Amino acid sequence: SGTGPFTVAIDGPAAAGKGTISRAVAAEFGFAHLDTGLLYRAVGAATLAGEEAVAAARALDPAGFDEALLRTGPVAQAASRVAAMPEVRAALVDFQRAFARRHGGAVLDGRDIGTVICPEAEVKLFVTASDEVRARRRFLELSGKGHDVTEAGVLEDLRARDARDAGRDAAPLRPADDAVTLDTTRMDIGSAVAEAVARVAARRRAG
Ligand code: DC
Repeated sequence: SGTGPFTVAIDGPAAAGKGTISRAVAAEFGFAHLDTGLLYRAVGAATLAGEEAVAAARALDPAGFDEALLRTGPVAQAASRVAAMPEVRAALVDFQRAFARRHGGAVLDGRDIGTVICPEAEVKLFVTASDEVRARRRFLELSGKGHDVTEAGVLEDLRARDARDAGRDAAPLRPADDAVTLDTTRMDIGSAVAEAVARVAARRRAG
């Protein structure tokens, strides 16, 4: 460290606040940000459109992503299913690592950034919160955008996705041994962001 790219790895279950924290950290330090969930969501969306998952992963064009389409519940579940396929994951590794390398500083968020994609990351955070709190936040976000969802339905979807993401053999969701866990159950998002920014600032000073 000291020279070369500075990488912040942010992992955790669905709707724990990874996206908000990642964007805020990237803005604070002028780092690039990659939401790696979008890659799996794009592959999931392709399978819903009838494409074969591995072929779709190999042909992925992140420049052409339609985020509004990719943020829906059915696409999230399809993403979690294709994410269990080792060949799909393998097809997405190079893009993620190249992203981390080609920027002076980068924040990548997902499920396996600290464990598999960027095991040498300078900062590793594992952002989590109770199932109920995550479901509540995601429900408010989706209903606020006019989606027809219930809190119980969102909770069920989150649990199904987390169980699949943590239970798979290929790069399962888990904190890296050297990750710092940030439990946001009783934290507002501003405090969670402040804590993440402080961690990154401390590591940058340490060089
Ligand atoms: O972060 P997200 O909710 O947009 O991710 C959607 C799905 O993609 C998630 O349920 C599991 C998968 N995923 C993954 O397996 N590895 C990543 N690095 C990011 C996402």
